[in-house]
Amino acid sequence: MTHPYPSTVKIVDVGPRDGLQNESMPVPIPIKLKLIESLADAGITHIESASFVSPKWVPQMADSAEVMKRIFRKPGVTYSALVPNLKGLESAIESGTTEIAVFGAASEAFSQKNINCSIAESLKRFEPVMEQALVQGIKVRGYVSCVSGCPYQGETQVETVTHVAKTLFNMGCYEISLGDTIGTGTPLKTQHMLEHLIQQIPVSALAVHFHDTYGQALANIFAALQMGISVIDSSVAGLGGCPYAQGASGNVATEDVLYMLRGMGIHTGIDLEKIVAIGHEITSFLGCGIRSRAGKALYNGDSP
Ligand code: HMG
Ligand code: MG
Repeated sequence: MTHPYPSTVKIVDVGPRDGLQNESMPVPIPIKLKLIESLADAGITHIESASFVSPKWVPQMADSAEVMKRIFRKPGVTYSALVPNLKGLESAIESGTTEIAVFGAASEAFSQKNINCSIAESLKRFEPVMEQALVQGIKVRGYVSCVSGCPYQGETQVETVTHVAKTLFNMGCYEISLGDTIGTGTPLKTQHMLEHLIQQIPVSALAVHFHDTYGQALANIFAALQMGISVIDSSVAGLGGCPYAQGASGNVATEDVLYMLRGMGIHTGIDLEKIVAIGHEITSFLGCGIRSRAGKALYNGDSP
């Protein structure tokens, strides 16, 4: 069953975390802070800014405590961070983080490669993290990775996605972000998955997180909007990938999503032109091109 399109969509920009975690060039703290603060200035109200994981696993995020401490916070904006275990939660709390995200997977092989434990062990590990976070008034978002396929074991079962998502939701995650980590999903498959999930979890508590490896992200987002999804993860300039998913390219670009939503008359409260400028600045620093089609066209002065 399709729903009318939502009138408003919330964008979660994951560029400072999902984007920068996968860039080979080290990004100094002042550049990270400028990126995060500029995104807030452009109207993004949820910015995934850091990740309290092992620095041996993801060295790019080793400065997360310092980043979280130094962000000049704009009222009404959430600056969240990934947390895999109690050690990560401790660092998140110490550095003033008010929202975290735990991250599980719908693939056993990916779970082992990414967080060194099985799906069941990860869910057990999240229990005390969730309990302590919620007691301290910290909101928790939950990710399910590999919802449309896994780089190590191929197809993902929709029943596994639903099981992991439902478990995280029942534990107290206020929102479940469905990660197409390697971007192999296609629109009808996405709708099929959402049909299952919506029977178990309110649609308002679901978000979509597409990587654009196969150029399917916007089509998948359009399909998700038709199902009533109103929270979309994206990354300025299409930065990113996943260090534990070989070949995964960046997240869908925030610029591309905003351009499509604007064309559909869907409100986001975000200034697309400012996002284009931010995308240009960060990719100039990284020495890579803007990976957003709309970003490139608008920066070159093409009329929308
Ligand atoms: P492990 O090796 O099994 O953990 O890793 P451990 O508990 O045995 O600890 C090993 C060492 O790590 C110890 O240090 C710990 O202190 C340290 P040592 O004694 O060897 O010096 N350690 C930590 N240090 C800092 N912060 C921590 C922490 N925990 C342990 N929180 C672990 C298990 C989960 C830590 C590891 O596998 C890990 O950090 N994995 C993270 C991988 C990652 O960040 N992947 C990318 C994010 S997920 C993603 O991108 C997908 C997403 O975007 C959605 C999608 O697209 O699908 C979210
Ligand atoms: Mg991701």
